[in-house]
Amino acid sequence: MSNRFYITTPIYYVNDKPHIGHAYTTLACDAMARFKRLDGYDVMFLTGTDEHGQKVQAAAEKAGISPKEFTDKVSQNFRDLTAKMNFSNDQFIRTTEQRHYASSQKIWNELLSNGFITLGKYAGWYSVRDEAFYAEAELVNGKAPTGAEVEWVEEPSYFFKLSAFEDKLLAHYEANPDFIAPESRRNEILNFVKGGLRDLSISRTTFDWGVPVPDDEKHVMYVWLDALTNYITALNWHEGDSLFERYWPCDIHMVGKDILRFHTVYWPAFLMAANLPLPKRVFAHGWWTNEGEKISKSVGNVIDPLALIDEFGLDQTRYFLLREVPFGRDGDFSRTAMINRINGDLANDLGNLAQRTLSIIAKNCDGVMPALPETPTQDDSALLASADNLLDATRQAFDKQAFHDALRQIWQVISDANKYIDAQAPWALKKTDPARMGEVLAVIMETVRQVAILVQPVMPHSVANLLDQLKIPENERDFTRVGGFRPVSGRVIDKPMPVFPRFIDEPDKG
Ligand code: MSP
Repeated sequence: MSNRFYITTPIYYVNDKPHIGHAYTTLACDAMARFKRLDGYDVMFLTGTDEHGQKVQAAAEKAGISPKEFTDKVSQNFRDLTAKMNFSNDQFIRTTEQRHYASSQKIWNELLSNGFITLGKYAGWYSVRDEAFYAEAELVNGKAPTGAEVEWVEEPSYFFKLSAFEDKLLAHYEANPDFIAPESRRNEILNFVKGGLRDLSISRTTFDWGVPVPDDEKHVMYVWLDALTNYITALNWHEGDSLFERYWPCDIHMVGKDILRFHTVYWPAFLMAANLPLPKRVFAHGWWTNEGEKISKSVGNVIDPLALIDEFGLDQTRYFLLREVPFGRDGDFSRTAMINRINGDLANDLGNLAQRTLSIIAKNCDGVMPALPETPTQDDSALLASADNLLDATRQAFDKQAFHDALRQIWQVISDANKYIDAQAPWALKKTDPARMGEVLAVIMETVRQVAILVQPVMPHSVANLLDQLKIPENERDFTRVGGFRPVSGRVIDKPMPVFPRFIDEPDKG
C-alpha cells in the first residue's frame, strides 16, 4: 500500500493555448512522479483537460465552431505540450470522455441520495473567467476579488449543502496539518472556512455545454463539480475498478494558488458527502510574473513554454523553473536569471566538472574508468560522504515539494566536487603520481554519477546522456544505486561530449 503514489495536475481549461502556468504545474508533478518511480513507488500521474462550462462554450462560439470540435482541437495542444516537455503522465483525461459523464453523474447521485442536494434558485454574481459564484460582499469595485468581470445570474439551480461541512472541514485541517501546503495558504483557507460556508450552486440552466444533471436535463452540472470528479474518473471509480482501490486516496493534488479553495473546501466536502476518503495533500504553488510584470493576455506578455524550450533547451527550462523560485512562492521570469542558471549551474558547475574529468580519463587512462582509493584521504571521504547523503536530503525535500531546496543541496555537492578537483589538481598528478590521479578522478566520477542519478527527475534527457557517457547501464539508474552503492570500475568510456552547452545571448533576439 504505502509504496503507491498518485499525483494529479489540475485539468486545464481548453479556452486558450497552453502557457507557462500550465507547463509549470505539470512540470512539478512530473518531477515528483519521476522521483517516486526511481525511488521504487508504483506511480499514477494524471493530467488532462477541463472542457465544459460557459468559458469554453464562449470560446468555441467565438471561434465559430461547435464546442466538441473546438475542444478536440485545443485539448490536442495540451497533449502536444506534454510530449514536448517530456512529461511522464500515465493518463491524459478529458472531461468530454463518456466515462467521465458516467462518473460525474454517479457522484451527483451519491450526493443526492445522501441528502446533500436540494433544488432552489440562484440569484447572485458569477464570473465566467473564474467559473465561480461570488457573494455581493466579496466584490471589490464591482469585480470579483480576482479582478475578473462578474455578471448577475438568476436561474433555477440545484444546491449542495456545503454549510453542513464547515465543522468537519475544520476538524480535518486540524487533524491533518499536511493537508494544505504551504503553511501560509493553509491559514488563508482556514480563515475562509471559519468565516462561514454558504450552500453552493451546483447546476446551471442558461447554457448546455456540460454534463447533464441525472433526471433533469434542463440543468448541466456546475463545471467545478464535473472537473474535480476527474481525479476519481481516471481511476474508474464509477465502475468499482481496482485502480481506485490501488491509488485512492490521492497523495498530492498539485494546483496553482488561485484554485486552492476549490480543492481544499469544495472537493473534500463533495467527497465527505459521498463517503469517500479525502486526498492526503493539496499543494498550491505560486504564480510567475514576466520581467517583474503580471502576466496577462491584454499586456501581451504571456510566456509560451514552447518558445522557452526552442530558445533555451528543454532540460534547461525545466531546471530553471524548478530551481529559480522556492516552490510555493511567486516567482519572476527573467531572461538574465535564466541565462545565469544555464551558464553557471549547468554549463560551468556540472557540465564542466563532468566534461573535464571524462576528458582526463579519456586521454590519460586509455578511457578506462579508474578505481576508487582503497585507503581514501580525508578529502576523498568527505566528498564521497556528501554524495552519499544526498539521497536522504533530496527525499526529504521532494516529500515537502521543495524542489529548489533539493537542487540547491545537490549543487552544493557539485560545488564541493569542483573545489576538490581544483585542490587535488589531477592534471598535475599525471606526471608525479599517476595512481593518485586515478583515485581522484574516480572520486569525482562517483560523485557525478550519484548527482546525475538524483537529477534525473528534473532533467531526464540530458542526464540520461551523461549517465550513458559514464557507462552506467539503464538498470543501474534508480535510487537503489545511490546513497552508498558503488559500481565496479573498469568501464570503458567513449570520447566525451559536452552535455550542457553554454548559452550565447544574441541581444537582438531578446
Ligand atoms: N480548469 C481549472 C482547474 C480544474 S482542476 C479540477 C483551471 N484551469 S486553468 O487552465 O485555468 O489552470 C491553469 C493552471 O495554471 C492553474 O493551476 C493556475 O494556477 C496556473 N497558472 C495560471 N497562470 C499562472 C502563472 N502566471 N504562473 C503560474 N501558474 C499559473 O483552473
